[in-house]
Amino acid sequence: MGVTVNGVELEWRERGEGDVVVFIHGFPFNSAMWGHQLAALPADWRAIAPDLRGFGASEIGPDPVFAMDLLARDLAALLDHLNIERVVLCGLSMGGYVAFEFWRQCAERVRAIVLCDTRASADAPDTQRARRSLAERVRREGPAPVVDALLPKLLSPLTVRKQPGIVAMVRAMMEETPPETMARALLGMAARADADTLLRTIDVPTLAIVGADDAITSRGQAEMLARGIRGARLELIESAGHIPPLEQPEEFNNVLGQFLTGLPRNSLSTRTAFGF
Ligand code: MLT
Repeated sequence: MGVTVNGVELEWRERGEGDVVVFIHGFPFNSAMWGHQLAALPADWRAIAPDLRGFGASEIGPDPVFAMDLLARDLAALLDHLNIERVVLCGLSMGGYVAFEFWRQCAERVRAIVLCDTRASADAPDTQRARRSLAERVRREGPAPVVDALLPKLLSPLTVRKQPGIVAMVRAMMEETPPETMARALLGMAARADADTLLRTIDVPTLAIVGADDAITSRGQAEMLARGIRGARLELIESAGHIPPLEQPEEFNNVLGQFLTGLPRNSLSTRTAFGF
């Protein structure tokens, strides 16, 4: 499905009916990474999984930097188009950075948050420099520098050994991402604001999830994230690296399903004729 919002045509996958959970993919993936979650969402839930601008089937648009707040505004505009008011956000890594910005912009639209393999702190100056030079290389050389830098760190050793199909799928998702999209998202992540102080303002049910073998977001970072948010719980997914929803979908879906079904029901997802 596609619609033009904020000047770009965005595509999304969706499944089910009921209260809405929005799945926000990581870098440099697309909505396909949430296939197992869309297929197994609890009854009475509706999943919306957008391709962020430039990723998957969505248009890239004119903005030279994909600032995280721009991506969050895209999301809000998509939800406006779908006439959806309040949602559960579920973001992985860069998707988590977008979720923080969505919260900053319109916390009243967020019922609950699931933060997977992500962190609140902004990049240190050396990481920013590395991202900017990677953006330049990707523009010159195509996706290979990003694939080569990221792929060895993304998946748990067990996934690499036992699930060649997942390795191939992750590689394909990365290689299909246009280099210009990668460059703009790298620049956006490098420039992102620190969300550490924002954590204290989060007052909706929050679940943090991290793969036990995540070599990109450490367990320590995930613990710090969960500690920063009042009442947040941290779940560790064994035998998963940076992408537990793909690497250990059953375990991930159990944890997510329990969280979703434990939320208070009857909170309206859809705008009424009277507005809010
Ligand atoms: C992601 O998976 O979205 C990236 O690892 C995020 C990042 O590079 O900080």
